[in-house]
Amino acid sequence: MDNTAVALVGLGSYLPPQRITNETLCARLDTTDEWITSRTGIRSRYWAGPGVSTGDLAVEAGHRALKSAGLEAGAGAVDLVVLATTTPDNPCPATAPDVASRLDLGHVPAYDIAAVCSGFLYALAAASSHIHAGLARRALVIGAETYSTILNPTDRTTNVIFGDGAGAVVLSAVPGEETDGNGLLLDMDLGSDGSGRNLITIPAGGSRQRATTPAPAADEHYFTMQGKQVFTQAVNRMTESSQTVLDRLGWSADQVDWLVGHQANVRILNAVARGLGIPEERAVINLDKVGNTSAASIPLALADAAADGSLTPGARVLLTAFGGGLTWGSVALTWPDIIPA
Ligand code: COA
Repeated sequence: MDNTAVALVGLGSYLPPQRITNETLCARLDTTDEWITSRTGIRSRYWAGPGVSTGDLAVEAGHRALKSAGLEAGAGAVDLVVLATTTPDNPCPATAPDVASRLDLGHVPAYDIAAVCSGFLYALAAASSHIHAGLARRALVIGAETYSTILNPTDRTTNVIFGDGAGAVVLSAVPGEETDGNGLLLDMDLGSDGSGRNLITIPAGGSRQRATTPAPAADEHYFTMQGKQVFTQAVNRMTESSQTVLDRLGWSADQVDWLVGHQANVRILNAVARGLGIPEERAVINLDKVGNTSAASIPLALADAAADGSLTPGARVLLTAFGGGLTWGSVALTWPDIIPA
């Protein structure tokens, strides 16, 4: 029986400096601040400027997470880097090895995870599995995105929703006897349904519809989303997955101090809270400031909630996400005594 537990021991986040308000978008798209705010809850988002890559944001967030964990960047700081992203620096190779190298972490295993908006929770599960298997003692887990690079500039629906950013945590092996201590990852649930693959997709550029000959239409390289169907799926999957974790842990809804859901849409987050019987005031919301940052969404929400004093040591936290694939997942943890960077 594995006697190792896994704890979150550091948290860092980074947003690129260019803030895009609803008013900025209204100037070039047929939309209004009223529509965006009432349909999504989003008021602004950040976009990386030309030449800034997902890896650049990931390095900043990774550096900050190491600092928050009291670690110096350098060989031996961590034994693993897992990077969740939908917008890697290149189709090949993965971005994680470059991020590990730029953080001077030595020749550690490093790989990307592609689970779209659920990516960060998939990455937490992968990294904690490495630790449980004895393959790593400490892992840097990053969610980083530059959706601004894949949005169709003429698609008003996706332009108003998505933002860029990066968040990262350090996970560490701790003795298994500390079964209810601060920062412990207590349970996880992951799932997928590939029959819904076309609801969120970039049609071209992969092996099914190649970027070379015959060249696809330019707009087939952009991100597309069937908003209404995604909305329903997101509410149902996040609610069911969260409930699975609550049931397994024996937690009732009122034992959850904070629900930190993927920041897709305030109406989705409120519906998930209602479905679980958790008061909406206990759902962390920061999408008004950053929009939907996909794989970066949950660590950015954690960073905001920690910074404003909502997340206090020992708080029972339920993370839940849904994304393209379709994919979904939930993770329960107790909040650690850390200072996010
Ligand atoms: N500004 C103004 N009008 C817009 C608009 C915009 N930015 N985007 C879409 N519209 C229009 C549509 O064209 C449609 O017009 P029509 O009725 O004339 O056809 C109308 O608004 C209503 O569109 P609809 O799709 O029914 O709106 P909605 O209430 O479902 O909200 C989303 C649209 C995208 C906000 C919503 O479906 C959503 O949030 N879906 C989930 C998205 C998401 O979270 N994705 C990531 C999950 S991981």
